Amino acid sequence: MCGIVGIVGQEPVAGRLVDALRRLEYRGYDSAGVATIHDGRLDRRRAGGKLFNLEKKLDEEPLPGIIGIAHTRWATHGVPNVTNAHPHFVDGVAVVHNGIIENFSELKDELVSDGAVFESQTDTEVVAHLLAKYRREGMSQRQAMLAMLNRVSGAYALVVIFQDDPNTIMAARFGPPLAIGHGRGEMFLGSDAIALAPFTTEITYLVDGDCAIMTRNGVEIIDYDGKPLVRKSQISQAAAFMVDKGNHRHFMEKEIYEQPEIISHALGHYIDFASHTVKPNQSDIDFGAVSGLAISACGTAYLSGLVGKYWFERYARLPVEIDVASEFRYRELPLSPSQAALFISQSGETADTLASLRYCKEQGLKIGAVVNVKESTIARESDAIFPILAGPEIGVASTKAFTCQLAVLAALAIGAGRARGTVTAADEKAMVKHLAEMPRIMSRVLNEIQPQIEALSRELSRFKDVLYLGRGTSYPLALEGALKLKEISYIHAEGYAAGELKHGPIALIDEYMPVIVIAPHDRFFEKTISNMQEVAARGGKIIFITDEAGAAASKLPTMATITLPNVDEIISPMIYSLPIQLLAYHTAVFMGTDVDQPRNLAKSVTVE
Ligand code: M6R
Repeated sequence: MCGIVGIVGQEPVAGRLVDALRRLEYRGYDSAGVATIHDGRLDRRRAGGKLFNLEKKLDEEPLPGIIGIAHTRWATHGVPNVTNAHPHFVDGVAVVHNGIIENFSELKDELVSDGAVFESQTDTEVVAHLLAKYRREGMSQRQAMLAMLNRVSGAYALVVIFQDDPNTIMAARFGPPLAIGHGRGEMFLGSDAIALAPFTTEITYLVDGDCAIMTRNGVEIIDYDGKPLVRKSQISQAAAFMVDKGNHRHFMEKEIYEQPEIISHALGHYIDFASHTVKPNQSDIDFGAVSGLAISACGTAYLSGLVGKYWFERYARLPVEIDVASEFRYRELPLSPSQAALFISQSGETADTLASLRYCKEQGLKIGAVVNVKESTIARESDAIFPILAGPEIGVASTKAFTCQLAVLAALAIGAGRARGTVTAADEKAMVKHLAEMPRIMSRVLNEIQPQIEALSRELSRFKDVLYLGRGTSYPLALEGALKLKEISYIHAEGYAAGELKHGPIALIDEYMPVIVIAPHDRFFEKTISNMQEVAARGGKIIFITDEAGAAASKLPTMATITLPNVDEIISPMIYSLPIQLLAYHTAVFMGTDVDQPRNLAKSVTVE
């Protein structure tokens, strides 16, 4: 989604604004722009495509000024081109925006009938026109800002500068996040604390309905009626994380390889490595007492939740209602305050997940957040935060966040089982022991399978369609494998429950359709082998991901067999994530796609 930065400083800002935009690149974008005020005049540079196009323009035509705002745009209304790129200017007002102004069409009709002429196809431009109109009518900058905020509806982070006030940046939040950074004689704002990390660690997060008036001396936060609000600042950890690729070609590759270390750190928060027990749950959610769980999330986070459903149901005998958040929020699902709800999100800002959370809150459920960003909106609105501690995930394709979500859900499910008396102390000990051994096994697997997967990926990159099959917890992994492959290689891929094959997808099987079968030698193995047999009988090309026992047991011909160590069921989803991540990664590298920032995708999806 769009990235926003702003600086009211003591020295030229354009270069620093572009550097800060670079730290927001991971969010996904298709054009960029920057605006400053210099010598009483607003000026801007905008460019389509990647940030180097904007930098080239700035080299050719530098933009002086010690106050400015900048933006990377992920197109919603209007194609990605220079005219639609932000900042939008109208009569001395400059606006950047992340989100969607839902009533823009009605506002636009009204403004056009008043004589306004629109340059772009964006919803954002109505904000600039409204502000300009209110200024023409004699309102101060602050009055105009509040009047505008009382007219627009939807989801937005809005940042505004007025040509006739070169000392102030105004901002408002309703939905997408905005962080204010406190400097010495300078103030900053950005879509997240990572963007501001080189400038300051002291951050104030705006909440929905806040309007910020920022000068070099500090920030005043008011509501839309102009009443003062108090928001505490905090010290952000964002600067502590190295946001670089190290020796890796892509962030995604780095994030795949750091999983063993990171997951060990995450597990340390939930399990006691010495006693092999789950640490006591100190949160406000009593898993021993709840009557059921509702889980909601989007994309990869939803798929970790789907694995979690199997675990909570099997180990804690807790019924789980799960749905993708974009459906969950509108289903009018009957829920009871005796249930608890879990929302899983790497960013903690996903609009649909947040809306589902608010729905469950209204129904009186206790809310748990399984999040990576502890300062995020989803975390802040929850009763209990279960951090996944994966560190910043920059690659748009989620990898380490997925396996850390799984590790946290596994620990929570075992703990819930203990609290409910459905997991014995001996079972807990055995399962936690497996979890504790997992990072070592992950390291081994990553090293061992890499050459084979790289060679196989070259072959896979020649196909147009791929099917993934799995049963039990391998079914969500099949979905995740397909999602990972399609989002970064653009090869069409679908995941199915292996048992569903003959209810439709089998019609697609021929020699042009590789079928990736994820089948550890578990209690579903024989069933999945029967499904593999059905594929083989129709000439389908099988890529078999299994363990040593599974490889020995199957006599079917395959295009390739990726053999992992025999592992316990509780850790197999994390271990089997590794080959599917590497397969997608190397295939995308062979295809020459933009692995870390695949086309059309955003890292943090703050609109519906
Ligand atoms: O930040 P979130 O975990 O809420 O994001 C949810 C999805 O947008 C995300 O998992 C997406 O599906 C990834 N690109 C998948 O790799």
